[in-house]
Amino acid sequence: MDKNQDLIKRREVIKLGGGKERIEKQHAAGKYTARERIGVLLDAGSFMEIDDHVKHRSTYFGLDKKYFPADGVVTGLGKINGRDVAVFSQDFTVQGGSLGEMHAKKIAKLQDIAVKLGIPIIGINDSGGARIQEGVDSLYGYGEIFYRNVLASGVIPQITVIAGPCAGGAVYSPAITDFVIMVDKTSKMFITGPEVIKAVTGEEVTQESLGGARVHNSKSGVAHFMAKDEKDAASIVKTLLSYIPSNNMEEPPLSDPINVKPDEFLNTIVPDDPHKPYDMVDVIKRVIDPNTFLEVHSKFARSMITGFAKINGQPVGIVANQPKVLAGVLDIDSSDKAARFIRFLDAFNLPIITFTDTPGFLPGTAQEYGGIIRHGAKLLYAYSEASVPKITIITKKAYGGAYIAMGSRHLGADLVLAWPSAEIAVMGSEGAANIIFRKEIKASENPEKTRLEKIKEYSEMFSNPYVAASRGYVDTVILPSETREYLVRALDMFSSKAENKPTKKHGNIPL
Ligand code: HXC
Repeated sequence: MDKNQDLIKRREVIKLGGGKERIEKQHAAGKYTARERIGVLLDAGSFMEIDDHVKHRSTYFGLDKKYFPADGVVTGLGKINGRDVAVFSQDFTVQGGSLGEMHAKKIAKLQDIAVKLGIPIIGINDSGGARIQEGVDSLYGYGEIFYRNVLASGVIPQITVIAGPCAGGAVYSPAITDFVIMVDKTSKMFITGPEVIKAVTGEEVTQESLGGARVHNSKSGVAHFMAKDEKDAASIVKTLLSYIPSNNMEEPPLSDPINVKPDEFLNTIVPDDPHKPYDMVDVIKRVIDPNTFLEVHSKFARSMITGFAKINGQPVGIVANQPKVLAGVLDIDSSDKAARFIRFLDAFNLPIITFTDTPGFLPGTAQEYGGIIRHGAKLLYAYSEASVPKITIITKKAYGGAYIAMGSRHLGADLVLAWPSAEIAVMGSEGAANIIFRKEIKASENPEKTRLEKIKEYSEMFSNPYVAASRGYVDTVILPSETREYLVRALDMFSSKAENKPTKKHGNIPL
């Protein structure tokens, strides 16, 4: 046979993956094939595949008689909206997308290339896990990938799409990456499956209730986005990349500046009644460029909001309390959620915009036993460590330790703005008056009247931004409608920020 014809023939075999029957099975399960997924994700015609001729070399359990096209994973380089990316996509039609030695080597090689080129890497996971026949060589493979995930962390963005099973130790590569997108219904992530759980604990669970997209988006926080289908997952990846640079040495991609008129509605958005909440997402959307908010972790730890946005075309990260959920309290999960996001923003040169309205840390044994001290400390650590521009807006409550934790001046904020509705105090007026005036209230002929007077007295002293502003902890008090204008100017000015920190190998964040 002609040598060129031979290559064409080989390519056809490789492209067919596990064969027509298995491809049909994949489609019947509501899933695309590995190559179809790459087609949906990348700019048309931009994919350059590498290592398509790679073969496994294990001979155990009859593997020497088997051929797995591309060894069950498609790898290569391509473009998303004109920007270079590296991508791997596990092929479930080939031996269940299982990961053996050579499959792993392909992924590890791609990771090395992505770091060398300084481009994002996107991994699409759909695999039965370690290729059982290959034994310890599969474990070696996972280890090599994890190690490179860690080396690449903070250097290039790493994005994971879970589009099928991802079980056992296999989950740890996605877990180290920056963002995990799970496809609703078809994706599963767990360390030990339902059978093992039943045998060990007697508990009956299904794969979906144990590790489906909903569980990991709302309960565990393992996943950051829930895609309704695979096309949606690809579109989330593309949107995400539009906010972030290709590596830690680059600035985030700028859009054209836009002129947005001040939003007067902001001046009345915070209700006078302290028990009436408002929606902080509404505040955020009225300050940023229209239709640019990409919420991250939207279903997890909802008393905290994290997300990307653009202000006058400049990508930023938003960290905000959500007064609509548990009054915007800080707890274990919301501290973790914000801290990890802040560290991503800092690593990839994205300014941090904080909106504060929080009554404090959540009290109770569940939180104390769960280590709220350890977890809250992560938030303080992340804010203090971040050297990108940090701008904080206090809209309402900023009480106690939570005031300090939410990007305060004391943790290195570059600009702290407060709305006239801001209350900056050790705690709420009612709780404060009950404690410091306890004796007077008790001794009073009319304790309730005295109590209300004392609450008013404390409130007049601290339920405003002016004591903090008089000390310079708040730089200035602004009308809510002036927020965008201040942010646009501050982002421009602080873009030249440079900070010298003590030299060290790395700090020791309380994990
Ligand atoms: C080798 C595997 C495989 C694996 C699936 N296959 N998983 N081959 N190693 N891990 C093969 C199947 O034998 C089958 O081959 C083909 O892939 C398709 O699998 P099916 O079972 O027919 O598909 P489905 O019914 O959709 O079930 C998918 C599945 C199931 C739920 C993923 O295959 C499964 O439970 N697989 C084993 C999962 C597992 O225990 N993996 C090891 C985890 S331990 P044929 O030729 O029959 O079509 C691990 C440790 C990592 O990963 C540690 C890292 C530190």
